[in-house]
Amino acid sequence: MIQLSEVSKTFPVRQKTGRLRRGRTLVTAVDKIGFEVSPGEFVGYLGPNGAGKSTTIKMLTGILSPSSGRVRVAGLDPSRRRTELALRLGVVFGQRTTLWWDLPLRDSFALIRHLYKVDQRRFAARLAELTELLDLGPFLGTPVRQLSLGQRMRGDLTAALLHSPALLVLDEPTIGLDVVSKATVREFLARINAEEGTTVLLTTHDLGDIERLCRRVMVIDHGRVAFDGTLDELRATAPADRTLIVDLAGDGVLAGLPDGVRLVRREGPRSWLAVPPDVSAASVVADVARACDVADIALREPDIEDVVTRLYRGSPAPA
Ligand SMILES: Nc1ncnc2c1ncn2[C@@H]1O[C@H](COP(=O)(O)OP(=O)(O)OP(=O)(O)O)[C@@H](O)[C@H]1O
Ligand SMILES: [Mg+2]
Repeated sequence: MIQLSEVSKTFPVRQKTGRLRRGRTLVTAVDKIGFEVSPGEFVGYLGPNGAGKSTTIKMLTGILSPSSGRVRVAGLDPSRRRTELALRLGVVFGQRTTLWWDLPLRDSFALIRHLYKVDQRRFAARLAELTELLDLGPFLGTPVRQLSLGQRMRGDLTAALLHSPALLVLDEPTIGLDVVSKATVREFLARINAEEGTTVLLTTHDLGDIERLCRRVMVIDHGRVAFDGTLDELRATAPADRTLIVDLAGDGVLAGLPDGVRLVRREGPRSWLAVPPDVSAASVVADVARACDVADIALREPDIEDVVTRLYRGSPAPA
């Protein structure tokens, strides 16, 4: 579905080199990146700000052409065959809408039907299906400018999927959404992938999206693929601290912390301890229980956020 090999993208930027002189330098946004995505996959595309995620997505959709290398999406060269590709591709940019600002949602969809030449009957059936899944009914007649962010995003997802594309590319679709809207969007994406076999490439800073949805994760940093594998493999690659939550009985004082274990937070009788990957949690529990009067202890595994942060920083994994 997606094939990238040795793909780079550089942007010329003007830079002040002296008081009056201006020079031009090249910024490398994507640096000889290569990967493939097979039909039906659900892939998370992660990386810190400025890593090159949006630039990659713009090359996949044909908005930008690569400076070098080869891009194929659904077998097509996106920058040369953008119109044909559009029929097989749905794109959602969380930061901006593809809908017409002044038109009711329903009218935007009707325009999209014309653009994609979807026949009337298929369109009606598809819209009914998406309306039900995303609960669009109450605001189909509302102009887009009056929609809340979560409603608009549901509208944008519908717009991207009305023509039943084989590939859906999403650039931060849950940005700014509240917990409930996020859950709706995630559940919807999981369904589209599972039931329709739609291939999904998802860029997000919300690691909850990733944990819920992506079987495969790619992490890019400085325009290069820093990791490509499953979420479990990612966790193993960059082990992070686990958290031990200790509740003391009465107003005792926490004591007996072994080397390497840090107290990160304290609230009344409750303390949060960071346990590094090379320290056994069982021994920490035993030491703490021996030294003080403990009412309760819980251990929390590192979440994916900690893991990815470690990977970005390039901290070496302990042996
Ligand atoms: N049109 C452009 N002109 C010049 N530089 C650009 C342009 N677009 C992107 N860049 C630069 O390319 C790099 C990668 O940008 P990109 O938008 O792809 O990052 P990103 O991974 O999407 O980041 P974010 O998480 O902030 O959205 C950045 O250094 C950015 O400043
Ligand atoms: Mg971006």
